[in-house]
Parts: sequence; structure tokens; C-alpha cells
Amino acid sequence: MNSDLPPLFFLGAGRMAGAMVRGLLAAGAISPDQIVCSGGRGLSAEALAAETGIRRETDPLTALAASEVLVLACKPHQLDELPPELAATTAGKLVVSVLAGIPLARLRQRAPQARNLVRTMPNTPSRIGEGMTAYAMDEPLTSHDEGIVRALLEPLGKVLPIAESHLDAVTAISGSGPAYVFEFTRALAAAGESLGLEPADAARLARQTVIGAAGLLAQRSGSPAAELRDEVASPGGTTEAGLRALEEAGLEEALRRTATAARDRSRELSAG
Ligand SMILES: NC(=O)c1ccc[n+]([C@@H]2O[C@H](COP(=O)([O-])OP(=O)(O)OC[C@H]3O[C@@H](n4cnc5c(N)ncnc54)[C@H](OP(=O)(O)O)[C@@H]3O)[C@@H](O)[C@H]2O)c1
Repeated sequence: MNSDLPPLFFLGAGRMAGAMVRGLLAAGAISPDQIVCSGGRGLSAEALAAETGIRRETDPLTALAASEVLVLACKPHQLDELPPELAATTAGKLVVSVLAGIPLARLRQRAPQARNLVRTMPNTPSRIGEGMTAYAMDEPLTSHDEGIVRALLEPLGKVLPIAESHLDAVTAISGSGPAYVFEFTRALAAAGESLGLEPADAARLARQTVIGAAGLLAQRSGSPAAELRDEVASPGGTTEAGLRALEEAGLEEALRRTATAARDRSRELSAG
């Protein structure tokens, strides 16, 4: 068990908090009794506690008072609904936020006496230790707090310290990115159906193709994606014909627009 990780309090217990909690527990980075969570008016905290064995606290201020690290994991717009007493209760704590589009300066207004603030952008593959988390901090991290941040994020996958000004772009690529890959997988299966395949067969072929290709990307981490692509596409062959059609249909432009829309939404959220 990693001794760098003190008791954690997750304020918000939905999909992202759940992915992080499961990732940490699966990696053996912390034991369930060292994690507390609170939610809003719904059932997510109760469900997460029941599924993972972590504790649920109905009063977030009580849970926060007993923790050294607050992981802020509600929806960005719910930040303003959090109790005003949070300002005093976060005094001396390390606050780690996963809220898309909420700048450090706004977090500082809510937690003015926190000992430091870290703004992260994780993604849901954190749940299986294959996440990508970029982070920026308000003040340079002490070595103690850097140990905590690394112990919190590294069991979830890869980490990338980055300037805060880039976090809207990070949100657009790796934060939202898993959804684009799932949508691609769905669309590939739909294409298979349009060619006459049974829906279940098309779904299976598309899913395993994405899983296998991702596995190759992982195993051949020194090879650019374009090189792996070219290994499939022999000159004059079927893949080359398909790739040409994909290019003509504007995949690159579509993804550029996709990322720009997500980046712009993140900026809108940042502006409040
Ligand atoms: N999903 C992703 O892939 C992803 C990726 C990167 C970052 N994020 C960030 O992660 C954060 C959470 O997203 P999500 O997808 O996990 O959302 P979600 O599943 O809707 O979860 C939101 C959580 O916030 C809780 N909550 C609502 N009001 C609250 C309040 N007043 N006090 C405390 N907790 C409250 C909800 O509890 P109830 O169920 O009780 O209402 C729920 O546990 C967002 O800020 C998002 O930007 C998400």
C-alpha cells in the first residue's frame, strides 16, 4: 500500500470519481476505508460506497474536516451549490479538482486558505489504470504534496504536468477523447451493418478491432500511429482504398472541429 497517500475525500461520487476510486483500489494504492465520498441529492455516493466498500458521509464538511486531501468531483456548474463553509474547512488542505473548465483562480475563491490547489483533467480509462491525466497547480508543489499528487494520479495511468493555459485543449483531446473512440467504434459497427453484417457480429468485429489496435499502440509505443496505419495498408490494397475514402470524407477536419467545439465549451465553462 502506498504510504504517500493520506485519507481522501471525494466531493462528488459520479462517473469520474467512480473511475478514480476504482482505479486506485484496483492498483492497491489505498484501502477502501481510507476513502470517503459525498454526493448531492441523488444516489451516486450511496451506490459508489456500496460497490467499492469506501465510506459515504452525508455531511461533506464533517468528512472534509477529517481528510487531508479533497478531490473535487462534482459537475462544474455544481461548484456554486457547494456549502459556503467549504472556504473555512479547506484551510490547510490540498484540493485536487477534476472539474472541466474551472480555472485555478475560481477554485482559489472557493478555497482561499487551501495549502495548494491542483487542477486536473483525467479521463474515464483511469478506472482500469489506463487513464491520461494532465494537471496544473496553483503554487509550486512541495515535495510532500508532489508525492501525494503522484500517488493519487499515477495508479490511474499516465500523467502530464502542463501549463494551465493548455488545459482546455487537454480537455478536448484526452478528457473527452474516450467518447470519440467509443463513437468511432459504434459508427464502425454501423458501417458493418450497412454492408449486411448481423448487428451482433458487426458490434463484435468493431469492438475487438479497436481493442486490438489500442493494444498495438500500447505495445509499440515508440511507433507513431501513422506508421502502424501504414503497416496495415499495403499499396493498392483494400485498406488503402478505405483510408482514401476516409480522407475524402474529411476525418481530419471532423476531428479538428470536434476538438475545437470541446475546447470552446471548456473555455465557456472557464468564463463562468
Ligand atoms: N466523465 C468524464 O469522462 C470526465 C472526464 C474528465 C473530467 N470530468 C469531470 O468530472 C466531474 C464529474 O463528472 P461526472 O461525469 O463524474 O459527473 P456525474 O456522474 O454527474 O457526477 C456528479 C457528482 O456530483 C455530485 N453532486 C451533485 N451536486 C452536488 C453537491 N451540491 N455537492 C456534492 N456533490 C454533488 C453528484 O451526486 P448525486 O448523484 O447525489 O447528484 C455526483 O456524484 C465534472 O466536473 C467533469 O468535468 C469528467
